[in-house]
Amino acid sequence: MEVFDAIRSRRSIRAFESRPVDREVIDRLIDAATYAPSRMNSQPWHFHVCTGDARKRVAEVMAMNTAYVQEYLDVLGPEVIEYAARFYADLGSAPVVIGISAIRVDDPTAWLDDAIAVGAALENLLLTVVEEGLAACSLTAPHWIRDRLVEAFEVADGSELMALIVLGYGCEIPREKERHTDIVTYLT
Ligand SMILES: Cc1cc2nc3c(=O)[nH]c(=O)nc-3n(C[C@H](O)[C@H](O)[C@H](O)COP(=O)(O)O)c2cc1C
Repeated sequence: MEVFDAIRSRRSIRAFESRPVDREVIDRLIDAATYAPSRMNSQPWHFHVCTGDARKRVAEVMAMNTAYVQEYLDVLGPEVIEYAARFYADLGSAPVVIGISAIRVDDPTAWLDDAIAVGAALENLLLTVVEEGLAACSLTAPHWIRDRLVEAFEVADGSELMALIVLGYGCEIPREKERHTDIVTYLT
């Protein structure tokens, strides 16, 4: 698959078949993620891959999120609330949940660099998901349940949970979301 095709066909998917994902496939996703660029090749990421009982523990924590997001979703209408509640109830049945952590650094510039590198690794992973015929959604670790998630993902002391990805074989076809167009300034 061409990179541009993968970029254009990637969507955030929030409903999955229960079919498991082979370990070799997950390994290829992680491998692709690690080829992302990072400041001075620091490779700040660590991947916490949860399947089986570990995935269940993460899903139980994420289910607590529904109550908290309610007030944010209220403004978006009942359809969105229902969709979100269904997703957060069991992470759309995704068989694999991956957390990405990075070692915390005090210098804000270095921390920003590390966050950018983690974002690049995340996107590499998401594009490889498309290549592998899988589907995924990236999520933030909601701050109100962050401590519990850190525990469920077994994030090391001194590290920060940066991102979550749920993935598996998708069973929904969401519409493509329009992209903003007024986003470039060409300087000559
Ligand atoms: C950093 C980040 C955090 C996100 N957090 C959530 C989230 O908490 N819940 C969710 O359902 N989707 C989340 N998403 C997915 C976005 O909603 C999605 O990327 C956006 O609506 C564009 O849709 P698309 O990915 O299908 O193009 C997140 C995406 C990113 C990159």
